[in-house]
Amino acid sequence: MSQIRGRFHKATDKLVDQYTASVGFDWRLYSHDIAGSIAHAKMLAKQGIISNKDAEAIINGLSSIKEEIEQGKFEFQPELEDIHMNIEASLIEKVGETGGKLHTARSRNDQVALDLRLYVKEAISSTIAQLKEFQQALISLAEANQSVIIPGYTHLQRAQPVLLAHHLLAYFEMLQRDVGRFNDCLKRTDVLPLGSGAMAGVAYDIDRDFLARELGFSQITQNSIDAVSDRDFIIEYQAAASLCMMHLSRLAEEIILWSSEEFNFIELDEAYTTGSSIMPQKKNPDVAELVRGKTGRVYGNLMGLLTTIKALPLSYNRDMQEDKEGLFDTVDTLLSSLEVFTGMVTTVQIKTENTERALEQGYILATDLADYLVKKGEVFRTAHDIVARLVSYAIEKSKALGELGLGEYQRFSPLFSEDVYSITVESSIAARDNIGGTAPKQVEQALARAKKIIGLFNNLSP
Ligand code: ARG
Repeated sequence: MSQIRGRFHKATDKLVDQYTASVGFDWRLYSHDIAGSIAHAKMLAKQGIISNKDAEAIINGLSSIKEEIEQGKFEFQPELEDIHMNIEASLIEKVGETGGKLHTARSRNDQVALDLRLYVKEAISSTIAQLKEFQQALISLAEANQSVIIPGYTHLQRAQPVLLAHHLLAYFEMLQRDVGRFNDCLKRTDVLPLGSGAMAGVAYDIDRDFLARELGFSQITQNSIDAVSDRDFIIEYQAAASLCMMHLSRLAEEIILWSSEEFNFIELDEAYTTGSSIMPQKKNPDVAELVRGKTGRVYGNLMGLLTTIKALPLSYNRDMQEDKEGLFDTVDTLLSSLEVFTGMVTTVQIKTENTERALEQGYILATDLADYLVKKGEVFRTAHDIVARLVSYAIEKSKALGELGLGEYQRFSPLFSEDVYSITVESSIAARDNIGGTAPKQVEQALARAKKIIGLFNNLSP
């Protein structure tokens, strides 16, 4: 039976207790709830709303409840609904009637909003820390293979040669945007809702600035109705998490492709692969597959909460209790995906014999041939045409471009001369020497910049 039964003549139905209880999952907010309550008790005493002695008893009681929870000694009672009521009931049990003063000038509506904001702030800093670890792993892999050239792809067709480091740094950029999004989300999460009461504000002379300072918020909410209704910050976290998982899923997909026998560009460490229960030859990239797969549930959690909040009238509605499980799941999924992915990337081996072979096959230098003709005075569109016909001829003859004789080249354009043979994958990448290009010089600078961004010392700089 619920605690607050004052106006009721009947106990709630057992099924209703079970159906409405949230303590099975919102217990995870216990430390934030207790931190919020301690700050609230301090503020009440400072404002003379409760006595210092009462505040002290309340704070001691709350601290021992925290210890009990952390030692696994606390007995959560589903019939007390949620984490807030569980802690309050235990406090009253411990310190007597005084415990009942804690909820003066407060409602569970501003209390839960506070707990969630504290939780999301913490989640954001863990997420950013984990993102930086992952970025560091990408940088290390790029640096360890700084001279490795791979085919770059468009439409999953070999397109132009690029440095592997350049390809890896593409992910660094994506992750840096993710860091930016989480930081941005932090600005709107870092706002104290406590003091909004049930929805109209509270009829006591409270000090919200004091609460904000105590709890480390840089701003306070400016409208009590909005403050208890707003879950945007959770949705923003979930949206940023969805984009981040999308990025991870793209790298996961490339790792899966690259570790396949068809590509065979990389060797995953055995610690990050599994065998098949039936096919002894298999070494499956399960970690990458699961990162790719778990992206779905993170999107689902975002859509779930958007849908829950959609068209809810102001202000608090019990529907909003549904904000938590998806949030916790997203945070757990994102953090664990980042962590395991970091380990996998750190241990990956590049099979350069195969990346080199992939560069020899195909016509990956076709763009460079067209550029060659343009530099000799040909119009780009015409040059493109000439090379297209040349490639088609080479395919017919089953020859690589380098295997064609000068006479064969000259059949397509008189501008071809002996120096056409100096076009190589190395000259191709070196030519792309603009900011953002794959030339070794550019990539070296990009690596230095990346290291600076994540706050590492750059050995190259004076
Ligand atoms: N368990 C509730 C939630 O998570 C806490 C707020 C309850 N407020 C209320 N008026 N019933 O949303």
